[in-house]
Amino acid sequence: MADLTTDFVGIKSPNPFWLASAPPTDKEYNVRRAFEAGWGGVVWKTLGAEGPPVVNVNGPRYGAIYGADRRLLGLNNIELITDRPLEVNLEEMARVKADYPDRALIASIMVPCEEAAWKAILPRVAETGADGIELNFGCPHGMSERGMGSAVGQVPEYIEMVTRWCKEYYDRPVIVKLTPNITDIRKPAEAARNGGADAVSLINTINSITSVDLDQMCPQPTIDGKGSHGGYCGPAVKPIALSMVSEIARAEATRGMPISGIGGVTTWRDAAEFMALGCGNVQVCTAAMTYGFRIVEEMTRGLSAWMDEKGYTSTAEIVGRAVPNVTDWQYLNLNYVTKARIDQDACIQCGRCYAACEDTSHQAIAMKPGRVFEVVDEECVACNLCVDVCPVEDCITMVELEPGATDPRTGRVVESEYANWTTHPNNPAAQAAE
Ligand SMILES: Cc1cc2nc3c(=O)[nH]c(=O)nc-3n(C[C@H](O)[C@H](O)[C@H](O)COP(=O)(O)O)c2cc1C
Repeated sequence: MADLTTDFVGIKSPNPFWLASAPPTDKEYNVRRAFEAGWGGVVWKTLGAEGPPVVNVNGPRYGAIYGADRRLLGLNNIELITDRPLEVNLEEMARVKADYPDRALIASIMVPCEEAAWKAILPRVAETGADGIELNFGCPHGMSERGMGSAVGQVPEYIEMVTRWCKEYYDRPVIVKLTPNITDIRKPAEAARNGGADAVSLINTINSITSVDLDQMCPQPTIDGKGSHGGYCGPAVKPIALSMVSEIARAEATRGMPISGIGGVTTWRDAAEFMALGCGNVQVCTAAMTYGFRIVEEMTRGLSAWMDEKGYTSTAEIVGRAVPNVTDWQYLNLNYVTKARIDQDACIQCGRCYAACEDTSHQAIAMKPGRVFEVVDEECVACNLCVDVCPVEDCITMVELEPGATDPRTGRVVESEYANWTTHPNNPAAQAAE
């Protein structure tokens, strides 16, 4: 059986599935139940400085985007950091950590960007026995207007400065949680590394307005006739998170830096993808909020079964495995030719591939009598749109032309020597290596 245990910056957990800092990790009751369900670790809902707790809105705080089957694809929230007193959170964290020593417990923190504020809270967090801290430089709403959260995460100099304070006043691992609301994610990651961070985690939520109530003419969720932008997460954000993770994994300045992957993880496969792109573990929020804590059972079972099937014996073997295959566009093999193929037995003759290709692409699908759809190889540029719009899985696939075959569209022979693109003289990477 595959070994799911992970060692992330020295923090051990029985599996790579941690709950991200959010409502599921807001209190002792939740976290105990999460651990009983099998979660490997939690990042406690973000703690603020000593003083009167923040006050949340009392109207709806979430908005959602659904698929046609009402499956939740994207979740938007206008919630703040914890609204429970610091003392209560710290006491609960200490109790939970003492009772679950084999699970990871991380304290997420967001206090003002002043040395004294960090110096004051860090020893108190250390006393709880938490395994490490995560700096919330990502929250895009409510706290950022007060100069915290993404207001810090968008300024690399602040990230470096605060990370340094944390490394000075706290002796366990420091994870810097990054905001995706920035042009180049490599810059804040580099700043975190320069400040001495042990790892980065990403992504926090993306600035968003989910929808507009057209009767009230107001963004939703609507609070007494007004709305505000919130933070977007859930399955819809996974592609953005994967791309950002891969950029950090590839960049020279941050290569090898441990990454905790967050953003839309819903299945074991999502987790494996994040890990393949360089994440030592993953964090989950929306999936737990949508399906409950027991979803972790499917995640651990699925990951374990896949690892057994592929012959991976430890999670460390997966981490970063896909990174060498992430490249820049100019290095893609232009001599690799595929054509669409339609499985006539699987086709339900809906004609969506035809409409899409005929109206908006390359007129490469012909409609024959009896609504039989056929690919016109002379026109097919292999764009994949027909595959993407087809409602039947695997009905349309892209099939590679063998070396020696002629591409009927360009008249060019697919040359066998191009098959080995990594060493081909036309490949700029190969040229650079010479
Ligand atoms: C309701 C809600 C509250 C959240 N609160 C926090 C928070 O207090 N601190 C934090 O770092 N991230 C917070 N997040 C962001 C999550 O930790 C996570 O980064 C984000 O939801 C992406 O993961 P997901 O797609 O699995 O939900 C919150 C997310 C949601 C939905």
